Amino acid sequence: MDRDQLTEHLKFAAELGVAGVSRDAAWRTRPGDAEANLAAPTIPLSRNAAEALSAVRADIGDCTRCKLHAQGRTQIVFGVGNPDAALMFVGEAPGADEDIQGFPFVGRAGQLLTKIIEAIDLKREDVYIANVIKCRPPGNRNPDPDEVETCEPFLFRQIDIIKPKVIVALGKFAAQTLLRTLDPISRLRGRVYDYRGAKLIPTFHPAYLLRNPSSKREVWEDMKLVRKLLAQN
Ligand code: URA
Repeated sequence: MDRDQLTEHLKFAAELGVAGVSRDAAWRTRPGDAEANLAAPTIPLSRNAAEALSAVRADIGDCTRCKLHAQGRTQIVFGVGNPDAALMFVGEAPGADEDIQGFPFVGRAGQLLTKIIEAIDLKREDVYIANVIKCRPPGNRNPDPDEVETCEPFLFRQIDIIKPKVIVALGKFAAQTLLRTLDPISRLRGRVYDYRGAKLIPTFHPAYLLRNPSSKREVWEDMKLVRKLLAQN
């Protein structure tokens, strides 16, 4: 990280409500790190998970299972990141930028998501990012129930392969869909849910944060909780 990136990182952390940083080396390690290093296998674990994810992508194919294939989608936006990630982010659906580039969260909201990830000392490459549905709904409307029903089994397969320790559901739509509830995101966030073997934390969507920057503080609280859960054995 160069000086400018560091300055930007610290500014963002301050905006999120970080009061200070410690130079104590112990602050950087988590319980279990030493044992985890000793136990590290020589063959990267990612191979099987990466292959299994490729198989899911192949099953999706050039999907025509729901009406979105005929409603102007450019391409399927499958998911991106570390197949062995301990932390996974799940958003709603690709937007215009994602539809063009083929990767989730690459537009303005995605840039903010990158900062949120970096605020807990991780990089985008460390985590896995996907959406509930893989094709852009026209005009960025909310996905319809039939589209969710058709597409979410692929997300479930991604989750079951990656086996993240923590899943962050980004925004009302992802949180309500995954948790099968209509409770508002303001009620859902601030709590931890058991979800497919992971701990699920709902938080505000980065696009919402772009419109409501004062809610960054709550997101920072949620991310501190994420960091704590990731550090637990
Ligand atoms: N919003 C989402 O929910 N997902 C994306 O990939 C981009 C924007």
